Amino acid sequence: MDRIRIKGGRPLNGTIPISGAKNATLPLMIASLLTEDTLVLDNVPHLADVILLQRILNNHGVDVMLSGKRSGGAENSGQTVKISAANIVDTTAPYELVSKMRASFWVLAPLLARMGEARVSLPGGCAIGTRPVDLLIMAMERLGAQIDIEGGYVLARAPKGLRGGEIVFPKVTVGGTHVAVMAASLANGTTVIENAAREPEVKDVADCLVKMGAKISGAGTARIEVEGVSKLGPTRHSVLPDRIETGTYAMAVAMTGGDVLLEGARAELLQTALDVLERAGATVSATNAGVRVSRNGVGLQPVEVTTAPFPGFPTDLQAQLMALMTRAKGTSHITETIFENRFMHVQELARLGARIALDGQMATIEGVERLKGAPVMATDLRASVSLVIAALAAEGETIVNRVYHLDRGFERLEDKLGRCGAEIERISG
Ligand code: EPZ
Repeated sequence: MDRIRIKGGRPLNGTIPISGAKNATLPLMIASLLTEDTLVLDNVPHLADVILLQRILNNHGVDVMLSGKRSGGAENSGQTVKISAANIVDTTAPYELVSKMRASFWVLAPLLARMGEARVSLPGGCAIGTRPVDLLIMAMERLGAQIDIEGGYVLARAPKGLRGGEIVFPKVTVGGTHVAVMAASLANGTTVIENAAREPEVKDVADCLVKMGAKISGAGTARIEVEGVSKLGPTRHSVLPDRIETGTYAMAVAMTGGDVLLEGARAELLQTALDVLERAGATVSATNAGVRVSRNGVGLQPVEVTTAPFPGFPTDLQAQLMALMTRAKGTSHITETIFENRFMHVQELARLGARIALDGQMATIEGVERLKGAPVMATDLRASVSLVIAALAAEGETIVNRVYHLDRGFERLEDKLGRCGAEIERISG
């Protein structure tokens, strides 16, 4: 199993290209199931989760062709993926595959909408909490699906097709909103989704669906309206830049000091997080080329942050911010409101010398003068990368184990950081 070795203490200077967003790529690939025509996606990141979803789609009979960088494309441009779900041969998504990646549960919606049935394994627990799918099931029922749970599988049926309906989410759910929009696109009649997730990835997927012929308005707001159509067609779509990758590297620069251009990043996708970084002492500016982050000399200031659905501070940057605050001059508080168990990084950060106390959903972080390298490991990808951020500022050597978590969501992490001066290497095997 690969590990990453980091020797801390070096500032970051240079340019880091930002990849396409993992959390838009996955639902976009799943949306290909809605049409028998070909969906071409550009700027797809090279990630383990993309490969895994490719296998899951293959299992339904979908052809997925990955091609590398396009001629004339920038050195680090993402890959182009051509997906054709002309012949769906199987509407079952088995436990062995769904249990490896929760988002694959979302295939339920397009399979049901297009084929009139789907049989998808319940995803089960995961490292960051229980993460139920009750709201996704509720959304399908509101569109007229008949749902049964049998042997750990959700059996969804709508032999005469789905029909438009009103879906009111009692809490904001990204996955719930994705499946509601996808299913409603092929339903008979109009669907209104209230308290919809406003995450930029929801808007990106809706934009792609509109290009395929769907009639969607309000994506990116809390009220989405979808007028169902009978068929969707082919299109080509470029995945938006990854705001979580952007925020992660921004925090890494704030941690080590230095000056880095996050190339291709879009500040408006993570304004709340960038504001927090400025309060912490970093300088952030949006340019035509991306987002530039620097910190020179100033000490880090403590912050008070509560995670929230977009446009609030993202839960997917909570662990990284906590790593940063371990070096602040004072006491910070970070409250996690989205997932009940997303503090697995706390014990590992403590191994590097961090002082963090947990009280329910709130972490109190007392900044320390120095962190010291140690062997660490983590159980999810954002937690893993928070250890990388801490290690970049720690004295001596840190070995981050279980790098496969990082590979699920960060493209060429050691290469991107290494080119900016970090002493970081992957140890294979
Ligand atoms: C998406 O997960 C992201 N995953 C997550 O990114 C992200 O942390 C999360 O949204 C929140 O922003 C992808 O986009 C692939 P939710 P999702 O439904 O859709 C509860 C990462 O590191 N809930 O918005 O699964 C749920 O338990 C990841 O890239 C229900 O109660 O999250 C949570 O408390 C991890 N019932 C809250 O809603 C349901 O049926 C929000 O979850 C569904 C969700």
